[in-house]
Amino acid sequence: MKVTIDAERRIGVRDRMLYGQFLEHFHRQVYGGVFDPGSPLSNGDGLREDVIEAVRRLDVPILRWPGGCFVSSYHWLDGVGAEREPVFDKMWRVEDPNTFGTDEYVKFCRAIGCEPYICTNAGTGTQEEMSDWVEYCNLDHEGRYARMRIANGSREPFAVKYWSVGNENWGAWEIGAKTRDEWGHFVREAAKMIKHVDPTVELSAAALPDVDWNLGLLRQCSDYLDWISIHQYWDAIHETNNASKFDQVVGMMTDLDGNIVKVRGLLDALGLSDRIRIAFDEWNLREWYHPKAVTIEQGVTKDEYLTPRDGNDDNSLYTMADAVFSAGFLNVLNRNCRSVGMACFSPLVNTRGCIFVHPKGIVLRPTYFVFDLYANHLGDVVLDDWCAGGDTVTVADPSGADVTVPALDVLSTTWEDGHAVALAVSSRDRARAHGLEISLDELAPHGKVTMLTLNGPSEESYNDIGHTDVSIATRDLGAYHPGMRVDVDPHSVNIIEIQR
Ligand code: AHR
Repeated sequence: MKVTIDAERRIGVRDRMLYGQFLEHFHRQVYGGVFDPGSPLSNGDGLREDVIEAVRRLDVPILRWPGGCFVSSYHWLDGVGAEREPVFDKMWRVEDPNTFGTDEYVKFCRAIGCEPYICTNAGTGTQEEMSDWVEYCNLDHEGRYARMRIANGSREPFAVKYWSVGNENWGAWEIGAKTRDEWGHFVREAAKMIKHVDPTVELSAAALPDVDWNLGLLRQCSDYLDWISIHQYWDAIHETNNASKFDQVVGMMTDLDGNIVKVRGLLDALGLSDRIRIAFDEWNLREWYHPKAVTIEQGVTKDEYLTPRDGNDDNSLYTMADAVFSAGFLNVLNRNCRSVGMACFSPLVNTRGCIFVHPKGIVLRPTYFVFDLYANHLGDVVLDDWCAGGDTVTVADPSGADVTVPALDVLSTTWEDGHAVALAVSSRDRARAHGLEISLDELAPHGKVTMLTLNGPSEESYNDIGHTDVSIATRDLGAYHPGMRVDVDPHSVNIIEIQR
């Protein structure tokens, strides 16, 4: 494949918030995940220091909390102040001790250096309860909730800028689900009250890539919304599909941007695309792909990290296929940076997260390193490159049919000061290496070329407790020269940086 790059052909500047994360009261994401007051690995606030250190390396811009479906029966007042009672979490059917609430969440955001993004209860909650939460977080001292925050030990407001009304309230599984007609009205009244309390906040609302649902929402609420929130978990798989797991994951990548295109089209048609951006605030592969196996080494037994609360959280194995998938979706987000301004990988830790937390430490899964590469080594200006020729691979699409896709997926970026060009290149071929010819003569006649490669010995490689197969290797490829050709290893995710 040959990629031709012209730094004048800009798609746009991507928002850092595309590399956001999500944290839900679900399995061991919070309790026994980021928050574990009894652990010797936690700080005085009960937050795991090893997790904080790993997350800081990713420069996470924004963290959505507390759900997910959890939020649709969560009452924030249960999670603040000295007197807190455990409550039964009606969604996930476990007891939530409420020891991690708004103050603890904001402390965690401060510790990892990110913006908080609070999703409110539009299931069993009221619009007034939402605006009371905004008052608790953002008003200086006016009103009983701001004074409650001060009494709870935080004199300064939390200044939470990003809020969302509801989570997947269109879904039959969601507690307090709403009909399309109810939703627009409900969100408008919530948005009105929230923005009366703090006009500076940015507001999103749960939506679908569906014209009818979004029309109802946008017709009633577009004056109040800054974002429209959509989610996607890719899991369609054909029962008779005999392709390898890696090839099935690659097959799913044929329609990664479908939902973005649908929502953007509607925003365009309604003349709203300059004002309302897409928050893709939950995304990932679903569990079906991941073998439920646990490597128990270093004296950590299953009993030590599984409690009745989290019987399903058994550290499935996440492989290079997850890494290639995640890189593919981050490429799509970058290419759509004019309409998508925020995205949250779901979740940050445990279940399908990029970090696995156990009582004696953490495991950095392959997806962790994808965020490391994208957040720390790509430029923020996305370029409209031109890829031509090159090999293809035939894989299985979600219906089980054969589909042929380019073997390499390339995203080109630069920086405003133009000091370098950085390409993200991932290989959708699990077996063979492929050559990439890079043509950017106008840009970098003699610049130094460095290649960072995330990979393991096979497409099934994973990291687990006492088992590290996946890591980043750095290679110096010398000076750029016209017609330069780079070999891209099978099932790898790479960044190629060319200094100007
Ligand atoms: O991550 C689990 C659930 O998946 C979230 O609670 C929900 O928003 C999504 O459907």
